Amino acid sequence: MKKPVIAIDGFSSTGKSSISKIIAEKLGIVHLDTGALYRGITWFALQNCLNEDQTINLEQLFDSFSLIELEFKNDNGELVLFLNHINISKEIRSNEVSDNVSLIAKQKEVRDFLLQSQRNLAEKGGIIMDGRDIGTVVLPNADFKFFLTASIEERTKRRYQELLSLGIEADEKQVKQNLVARDKIDSEREIAPLKRAEDAIVIDNTMLTKKETIESILTHLKN
Ligand code: DC
Repeated sequence: MKKPVIAIDGFSSTGKSSISKIIAEKLGIVHLDTGALYRGITWFALQNCLNEDQTINLEQLFDSFSLIELEFKNDNGELVLFLNHINISKEIRSNEVSDNVSLIAKQKEVRDFLLQSQRNLAEKGGIIMDGRDIGTVVLPNADFKFFLTASIEERTKRRYQELLSLGIEADEKQVKQNLVARDKIDSEREIAPLKRAEDAIVIDNTMLTKKETIESILTHLKN
């Protein structure tokens, strides 16, 4: 039997990736954190495509796509992102990347560059992909679609804790500002905006633990 294709979309810091990772392990399917791909391109741009005033030169970035090789590798059961064979899993979580990733993700050229490889990965089934436009654009025919949401206060708390656990310095107020700003850009952009697919199941996990959110998703998968 073909294994399912599952799309998980939603706001920043609703736990999409960590929840998807656990569900993938339980079901024996692949997990793809598509946000990491946009973060990887942003990291590349910050290293290689800066104007003199330190802003990102988008044209230079678009001309450099052939130099970008993004790959997930299994490192002791953990999928880590490599850019041109260098592990960038910590760099992509930095504040510098978080502050610039929505600008990069709203560019049509960037989205087109990533679209086909995301679709190819889902062709054979057996994948859970999390992002912002998976149920609406990347995999509109997914077998299951979920849309995760939570209050901004709760999401701020979670991202702040995540940064601390990664050893990245963080200020709670700035974390909140970044989440609000990213949600706004991600929801209002012209191409593939963050929005719930009409047939997605909405889960507000403000009051739910990670385990409870996972159980809720697994229950829907069984039905
Ligand atoms: O899930 P995340 O916070 O790591 O995602 C980082 C950014 O990438 C997010 O602000 C929006 C963008 N993104 C996107 O536009 N489309 C996706 N499928 C995944 C992420």
